[in-house]
Amino acid sequence: VKSDVELIADKRNGQILGEADIRRFVGEYAQGGVPDYQMAAMAMAIYFQGMTPAELGPWTDAMLHSGIVIDLSHIAALKVDKHSTGGVGDKISLPLAPLVAACGVPVPMISGRGLGHTGGTLDKLESIPGFRTDLSVARYRELVETLGLALIGQTAQVCPADKRLYALRDVTATVESIPLIASSIMSKKLAEGIDALVLDVKVGSGAFMKTVDQARELARTMVDIGQNMGKQTTALLTDMNQPLGAMIGNALEVKESIDILRNEGPKDVRQLTLALAESMLALGGVDPGLAVERLASGAGLEKFREIIEAQGGDPRVCDDPSRLPTAAERVPVVATRSGFISGMDTCGIGMAGVLLGAGRTRKDGVIDPAVGIEMAVRLGDVVEVGQPLAWVHHNNQGIETAGQRLTQAIRIEDTAPIVGPLIIERIG
Ligand code: URA
Repeated sequence: VKSDVELIADKRNGQILGEADIRRFVGEYAQGGVPDYQMAAMAMAIYFQGMTPAELGPWTDAMLHSGIVIDLSHIAALKVDKHSTGGVGDKISLPLAPLVAACGVPVPMISGRGLGHTGGTLDKLESIPGFRTDLSVARYRELVETLGLALIGQTAQVCPADKRLYALRDVTATVESIPLIASSIMSKKLAEGIDALVLDVKVGSGAFMKTVDQARELARTMVDIGQNMGKQTTALLTDMNQPLGAMIGNALEVKESIDILRNEGPKDVRQLTLALAESMLALGGVDPGLAVERLASGAGLEKFREIIEAQGGDPRVCDDPSRLPTAAERVPVVATRSGFISGMDTCGIGMAGVLLGAGRTRKDGVIDPAVGIEMAVRLGDVVEVGQPLAWVHHNNQGIETAGQRLTQAIRIEDTAPIVGPLIIERIG
């Protein structure tokens, strides 16, 4: 048996770690037996040396089994979830989960909160008056069984090793490692009780992964982990070089999601919701064509109403979105010159939202559900000087700096940009 120091040295030197050693090291870290400083050194060694699939399997499995693995085997249907690596205006889970559930495929969804410039599904849902995401595992299982859907937050019992390791990576410059990201995401998803998973791996100026090559490697790594653990896993690489849809901010994104479930709303949000729904239905053994049908019939919206009510929220927001929190002011940010919208610093747009109060700058920060940004332009649009580029919904916090960030983030030039497709590639 190798000591912790020997294992860290082996990884530092580029050697491949053995399965039993990995299981012991990660298992003891989860129990507090391996201290943070040794895990920090290991994470940095992994950052530089990577991990082979033979190492990543046991690493992910040990993370997964650091806590409870929820058992949903009492539900006969194949249960399928979606995970997005995170972007700006990415509210897809909100229309997607009820739509897929309305097609007969149960969706057990454990989501996160906003992090940095990206929003989080839990924060968005909690902008619905009364909506609770802190349900017990027992209630989660019951909702998946009875409604085909549950939308809850991470509990302390699921993947405690990841909770600790993610916080450690955050302060040791080891977040941006493909094997560490892949094992972190997959261990949490596999703990939900799913049979299959669809991944939406974002690429571009608003994503973790800035290039298609990086995103493809992350997607491939996660798909392989899932498949090797006996869960069918597929991935879409999708564009994040501009925000998804028009709305960025919690209640604003709920409103746009309701528009989608009303068979309206922005084209890109609709296209991606349907593409992901079709992939989830295919994995769930249901005709993918049902997605368009159940969107048009209003069955997806009805399911959203049901889950809002079941989780303590006010379902009347589905018929009357003015019941959602609304900001006091709505002001435009205008073009300082004429030309084509040639590029966006999507991360900067997300940060402008954070400055208004839509996101957090520290882990325990409080967010304002009402504020955010409503984009008025998309890449390739032609604008005249003085024309609104976006509308800022604010409550008198951060408006100056947010306006400046937005002006800087939306570039206007004389030549039209080349705008790539929303759905770049399918993997798995
Ligand atoms: N999201 C996660 O859950 N883990 C990571 O490591 C990165 C993004």
